[in-house]
Amino acid sequence: MSKRRPLISGNWKMNLNHFEAIQAVQKLAYRLSPDDHKAVDVSVHPPFTDLRSVQTVLESDDIPIALGAQSCHWAESGAYTGEVSPVMLAKLNVAYVIVGHSERRQLFGETDTVVAAKLRAVLAHGMTPILAVGETLEQREEAMAEATVTSQLQAAFTGTSADDGDGGQVPPARPLTAHQVGQLVIAYEPIWAIGTGRTATPDDAQVMCSTIRSTVADQAGKEVAGSLRVQYGGSCTPANAPDLLAQADIDGALVGGASLDPDSFAKIVQSVPRA
Ligand code: PGA
Repeated sequence: MSKRRPLISGNWKMNLNHFEAIQAVQKLAYRLSPDDHKAVDVSVHPPFTDLRSVQTVLESDDIPIALGAQSCHWAESGAYTGEVSPVMLAKLNVAYVIVGHSERRQLFGETDTVVAAKLRAVLAHGMTPILAVGETLEQREEAMAEATVTSQLQAAFTGTSADDGDGGQVPPARPLTAHQVGQLVIAYEPIWAIGTGRTATPDDAQVMCSTIRSTVADQAGKEVAGSLRVQYGGSCTPANAPDLLAQADIDGALVGGASLDPDSFAKIVQSVPRA
């Protein structure tokens, strides 16, 4: 058994208004037992407009579910219409922030430079980034899955200089220290598996998560790599979770669709192998 504490995270994406969010988190809390919480860390990532309501429920009822966000801006404040800063999230006791989700990369133009800047902003404000990486179907078919994920990780770890693209809009990012790398959670999310009902086989997911751990070891050493949590994401359900979560290098899941249903999400939490 690995000593890593599993983390199951529910990424609600742009679903559930603040009333629905309160209900969902209350139902989830009811379905999870003290034994579940003893064995597994659980986080929920509602839309920004729900965060304060969910925070209030979690704190007033003493529910041991961590509050997460789906993204944030890299700056502390400023003229960034429509954005939410890491300072605002930290003030709501947000513990985890997803950075570099493929929907942000593909639909909202987030480059490796943006991802690197956001990652450092989340760390600087005492929250844990869940860094999402993953390949497209085309990259997988061209046998480029491992190279793609490794390059996304290296870009995030190494940082960027002032000359890197994005028209100088994004601040340069210094290389992460080994200690900082050790503070991350990494989510392997093959893009072709997200919201499609297609899941990576447990063996393929294990190979990719083990590649991620080796890349972390190259950057930050074996000890950091051995304690860093790597999640699998992409059409994770109560049916496929037990096999995925039994893999040696998979320490949890980043769950989209199935996290909207408290029953399904609780079952995924309960599929984590127990010592
Ligand atoms: P999915 O989403 O579980 O609906 O495939 C996963 C994710 O994008 O985090």
